[in-house]
Amino acid sequence: MNASVPPIAPERLPALLAAMPKAELHIHIEGSLEPELIFAMARRNGVSIPYASVEDLRRAYAFSNLQSFLDIYYAGASVLITEQDFFDMAWAYLEKAAADHVVHAEIFFDPQTHTARGVAMDTVIRGLHRACTQAQATLGVSASLILCFLRHLSEEEAFQTLEQALPLRDLFIGVGLDSSEVGHPPEKFARVFARCRELGLHLVAHAGEEGPPAYVWTALDLLRVERIDHGVQSTRDPALMARLAKDRIPLTVCPLSNLKLCVFPRLADHNLGALLDAGLVATVNSDDPAYFGGYMNDNFLQTFQAVNLHAAQAWQLAANSFEASFVDAPLKRAWRDRLEEAFARHA
Ligand code: HPA
Ligand code: ZN
Repeated sequence: MNASVPPIAPERLPALLAAMPKAELHIHIEGSLEPELIFAMARRNGVSIPYASVEDLRRAYAFSNLQSFLDIYYAGASVLITEQDFFDMAWAYLEKAAADHVVHAEIFFDPQTHTARGVAMDTVIRGLHRACTQAQATLGVSASLILCFLRHLSEEEAFQTLEQALPLRDLFIGVGLDSSEVGHPPEKFARVFARCRELGLHLVAHAGEEGPPAYVWTALDLLRVERIDHGVQSTRDPALMARLAKDRIPLTVCPLSNLKLCVFPRLADHNLGALLDAGLVATVNSDDPAYFGGYMNDNFLQTFQAVNLHAAQAWQLAANSFEASFVDAPLKRAWRDRLEEAFARHA
């Protein structure tokens, strides 16, 4: 652990967790759409949704695995039609992120969920990007976009999506891979990721959420990703753990997501502590906060309580989030200085 972590009284740890600067690197913007906003957009866009009320929709948020969540998540996203809708969704998230002292967010979006319904790529990306620009100017939060390919669709469709997005190449920093994991291994997308690499895009992929350690290996060796999203199944493979530690491959871990999708039976069973103990660059993230019961600080506070983590791990997780981000070294150093200041204030 870092030598510069000052001692923190246990009763001050929750306030420190909330106030410390942090980066969020695993947030699906469609998963930040709260039921109230879903209903407001459905009304203003004349889209019908198969739920009678906000409460009725919230009651449906009882998931048994990833697929049971994805079915409802894609239904919720069907209300997004205009550029203003995409702006409003991202802005609502960024305001919550700022309140949680998130200083930087790398935001996933799923264009195929929208283009399949006739929404233009331009509408999606411009709306989201405008919110990112405004967040920097008025909230002091830096934010960038990562385009995710849906892995339950074909690689051919991923290539078409990339083509549609390339005129807006400067408005996103990388690509990812999400949706139904088991049965859709990373290698299905080897060619399109190779093309994205040639284009200078950053590469990440969901792997080892429900899928086996083998999917983490192929995400690393065949897709050549720079970070693994989730990756919690890696603890089943000691050789993989050694590889992740040696190459300092970050894992963007999402504890409340893992709990709600039954990856771990109880939050107390989560392996975040084991990942940190093994020297991995693990980070804490919210994944789909509107569906999983919590934004960044909810994830930190509930997980620290459940798995009994301490100030040294808080420091490590925040420092890891900066190290793992796709920004330049001077900015990372500036955030590390702010982290030190937050710890000094709570010592
Ligand atoms: N896993 C895979 N796909 C997703 C997720 C997730 O946790 N959230 C939104 N799309
Ligand atoms: Zn995710």
